Amino acid sequence: MSTLAMLGGPRAVPRDVGETGWPVITRADEEAVLRVLRGGVLTATAPGEPEVAGLEEEWARYVGAAHCAAVGSGTAALQLALAALGVGPGDEVVVPAVSMNATALAVAQQGATPVFADIDPRTFCLDPAAAAAVTGPRTAALLPVHLHGLPADMAELGRLAARRGLAVVEDAAQAHGARYRGTRTGALGDAGCFSLHPSKNLPTCGEGGLVTTSSADVDRAVRRLRTFGERLDQERTRSYVAHAVGWNHKLSPVQAAMARVQLAAMDDHARRREAGIRELLDRLGRLPGLRPPHVPSDRTHVWHILRVRIVPEELGIDGVPAGAVRRALHRVLRAEGVPVSRYQEVPLPDQPAFTAKGTGGDAARDPASFPVARAVLDDSLCLQRRHLNPGSAPALRAYADGFAKVWEHLDVVGRMARSLASSRGGAA
Ligand SMILES: Cc1ncc(COP(=O)(O)O)c(C=O)c1O
Repeated sequence: MSTLAMLGGPRAVPRDVGETGWPVITRADEEAVLRVLRGGVLTATAPGEPEVAGLEEEWARYVGAAHCAAVGSGTAALQLALAALGVGPGDEVVVPAVSMNATALAVAQQGATPVFADIDPRTFCLDPAAAAAVTGPRTAALLPVHLHGLPADMAELGRLAARRGLAVVEDAAQAHGARYRGTRTGALGDAGCFSLHPSKNLPTCGEGGLVTTSSADVDRAVRRLRTFGERLDQERTRSYVAHAVGWNHKLSPVQAAMARVQLAAMDDHARRREAGIRELLDRLGRLPGLRPPHVPSDRTHVWHILRVRIVPEELGIDGVPAGAVRRALHRVLRAEGVPVSRYQEVPLPDQPAFTAKGTGGDAARDPASFPVARAVLDDSLCLQRRHLNPGSAPALRAYADGFAKVWEHLDVVGRMARSLASSRGGAA
């Protein structure tokens, strides 16, 4: 049994473990970008512009949605989808208590109120029962997030929406290509919103986003609102007349061209990443006190982020708050070279932007609110997208070795956790 790196022993993960980068940029990406620069059509509104239109058609086909509109970012996609569905001041939108802040920001930017609901302890996605509990007369929409790459429980949420007459906007920024009961994300609600940020599973060179929908009306509204509220679809020559208070949320042809190349490679990238991740999960699943992500049998996970929960009692570390055990493991694992991180530190309703009166954020002052979100963020560690790449299998194997080594030293972890708990009350 080798000594922990933290105590002067060798690292389990060699420094040159050979993590592959993301995005995987090939000659095809370079040629696509150059093609746009040389062609000189540099804006989506140029008549006959081929790259943005091509990406929209290809992504709609891939998702199985009737329409797709390419936009400036995932956040813009959410704003435009909400606006196109008529969400505005006075409305409430149900948002999971754990997501990237953009999910709730997009609601607030519409002048609507994000009302937070707790998450499921095993999928980390919006809990339909919690969503139902906060749905009221002002609720206009549900905004489930397919967090980390796993679809939310869309059947149950769809039933709630149908019962209460609500729109459903999918935040699929982290879940390109994931399936729920055979249907891809983006075709599971009234509108699906994707990000093309370079960190995402469908990346581009810069910012970008996509809105999918089966509704011609929603698609038309998104297209108008992304281009200053102009009716480009009805005009032969652009008149620059704004018919609605729109934005400039267009996608650039350069970004569209690279995204098309990445889309052609996306399923292959996913398969190659999945192989390494499966092996890692298999090994983590054998360690006591560690809960790898749960993937219900009716959906697929596309592994944007991999989050594992820690169960102190099963580690034989009793009577210590889970947060202190997680902090101890975080330090010991990182010293071994395993790049675990927290990804998010607090639930969305605790973020200052959302603590206004009347939002689920009111409850943030109550430490008993959103108990599952708080517990999950407190007792879990993540491997982020940049560590889950095609060709990462050797690195992931080394991370599994790092976990296994640390699990041979749980006595040290326990002592450290106790000391952390007594010095900082086990918090953060
Ligand atoms: C769940 C979620 N929603 C929305 C966004 C916003 O996407 P973008 O960064 O493209 O604006 C992100 C991006 O990190 C995200 O992870």
